Amino acid sequence: MFYFTLYENILSLQSIKIRIRMNKLIVSGMRPTGNLHLGSYFGALKSFISLQEEHKCYFFIADYHSLTTHPNPKDLHNNVRIILSQYLACGLDPNKATIYVQSEVPEISELYMYLNMNAYLGELERVTSFKDKVRQQPDNVNAGLLTYPTLMAADILIHKATHVPVGKDQEQHLEMTRTFAGRFNRMYNVDYFPEPLAYNFGNELVKVPGLDGSGKMGKSEGEGNAVFLIDEPEVLRKKIMRAKTDSGPTTPNEPKTQEIENIFSLMKLVSSNDTVSFFEEKYNDCSIRYGDMKKQLAEDMIAFTTPFRERILEIENNSEYLKQVVNQGSEKVRESARKTIKEVREIIGFKPF
Ligand code: TRP
Repeated sequence: MFYFTLYENILSLQSIKIRIRMNKLIVSGMRPTGNLHLGSYFGALKSFISLQEEHKCYFFIADYHSLTTHPNPKDLHNNVRIILSQYLACGLDPNKATIYVQSEVPEISELYMYLNMNAYLGELERVTSFKDKVRQQPDNVNAGLLTYPTLMAADILIHKATHVPVGKDQEQHLEMTRTFAGRFNRMYNVDYFPEPLAYNFGNELVKVPGLDGSGKMGKSEGEGNAVFLIDEPEVLRKKIMRAKTDSGPTTPNEPKTQEIENIFSLMKLVSSNDTVSFFEEKYNDCSIRYGDMKKQLAEDMIAFTTPFRERILEIENNSEYLKQVVNQGSEKVRESARKTIKEVREIIGFKPF
């Protein structure tokens, strides 16, 4: 009888362990760099929205990070407000995920300092994003820029996250987070920080091309390249009608140029299958008129973005709601952050007198 219950206990312990292992703890941050465009919606936000249904998620607005470019106080606040409203409007849910503003959590900067004590100049200087910045802004190569990966590590380790959904451009930063976590563990001979993995979406992620014929939709590629969720219908029509095309197919079933491929890709995101097939056929028999295709794309794009735009405006104007969301997030996140900092201080050897 005794052995039987013991055995049962071990079994249930095992299953708890397995369950814990399967439960991912996810952290991701977004820099407050202005309006959301279709690329960030399909490329990141949509996956956040599905993650919050299944896992414990922390999503935050990385406003400490934006200080590397020295924004003025008014812009800083406005940008945080914009990104928060737009993420909420798209479906991030403060009752499912913990959504917070980084600067509300000073514990992150404390962990950042500790991690900096074991981050070395050589490895920080070798980071690709740092080298790019040095090239782009040689007059403002500040220490914050150099230690961007340590701050990002603090963002992730403060919650002892197991997974981080990041794009290709952030993989090196995540690799450094693993390095810093492992180094901390070895230095203090503890098994404290997990080494977080990239959360991989496999085929779920859609690449959204730009309107200027380039491979990727983005802000840095210039105004006309991106479709912002907040764009007014007239603005959208103009942008789309100006999108790059070529001189048209001359032989049936001709392979498409990058520009035309892009227009079709965008259409696949927002138009019905019938519409896409209709223009595919026209392309293949060389009777396509790009003007008509773009007109159709513009209308379908407007239909797609209008509900988002309306919700964004509604939320942006609802200061009470935004305040409530931020407060709710701060409360939840501080609990997790305080616990980590308390434990880290003990590990490091800061003891109360
Ligand atoms: N570096 C990320 C970017 O540029 C933003 C970011 C900051 C982040 N801290 C993070 C992403 C922590 C994931 C986890 O997009």
